[in-house]
Amino acid sequence: MRRILAVVVLISICGVAAAPDSLSDMPRYASDNSLLRPDGYREWIYLSSGLGMNYSANPGDHEMFTNVFVPRWAYKEFLESGKWPDKTMFVVEERGSESRGSINKRGKYQTDSMGIGVEVKDEKRFPERWAYFGFSEERKSAQAHPKEGCWECHENHAAVEHTFVQFYPTLKPVAQKFGTYRQERAKVQ
Ligand code: HEC
Repeated sequence: MRRILAVVVLISICGVAAAPDSLSDMPRYASDNSLLRPDGYREWIYLSSGLGMNYSANPGDHEMFTNVFVPRWAYKEFLESGKWPDKTMFVVEERGSESRGSINKRGKYQTDSMGIGVEVKDEKRFPERWAYFGFSEERKSAQAHPKEGCWECHENHAAVEHTFVQFYPTLKPVAQKFGTYRQERAKVQ
C-alpha cells in the first residue's frame, strides 16, 4: 500500500508540468501523413472570438464567428514562458451568425459550425515547423495546405511565433511580459 502511495506521489510530482489530458490534445496522423481531426477541442481552453473578421478586399456579406481554442497543457506552458511548446495545436472554429431569433432584438448569436481550421507546431515532421489543415464537419482527416496561403499569412502577420496573439486579450499581456510579443505586428496595416 505504502509503495503504491509513493508511486502515486512521484507521478503527481513529475507529472504536474502540463501533461496532455488525452491523446486528442496532441496531433495524431494517419499513415499517409494526414492529420486526424482533433475531436475533443471544445474541451480545450477558449482564447477568443472574432465576428466577421476578414482579410480580403472583397469579403462576402455573411459575417461568421471564429472561436479559437488551444489545449490546456500548451496554454499552461505559454503562461510560464510566452512561447508555444512543440506539438501545440490550435483550432479556429467557424460558426454562422444570426440575429432576431427567439427573444433577441439586436446583436448577434452563433449558429451551426461551418468547419474548423487547425494549426500544428510540429518541428520534426514539418520542415516549416508549422502546418495548416481544414476540416468540414464530416471530415475525419486532412492533408496539410500548401505553404502559400495559411502559412504565409501567419508567418508574416502574427504577433507571437505563428499565432495571432494581438487578437487574444488574455494572452497578450503574458507574451508582453516575456518579451515574445512583436508590437509592430499589432499596428494598423
Ligand atoms: C490573410 C491572413 C490569414 C490566412 C491566409 C489564414 N489565416 Fe488563420 N488566422 C488569421 C488571423 C488574423 C487569425 C486571428 C483570429 C481570427 O481570425 O479569428 C487567425 C487565426 C487562426 C487560428 C487560431 C490560432 C492562431 O494562429 O492565432 C488557426 C488555427 C488558423 N488561423 C488556421 C488557418 C488555416 C488552416 C488557414 C488556411 C486554410 C489560415 N488560418 C489562413 C489570419 C490568416
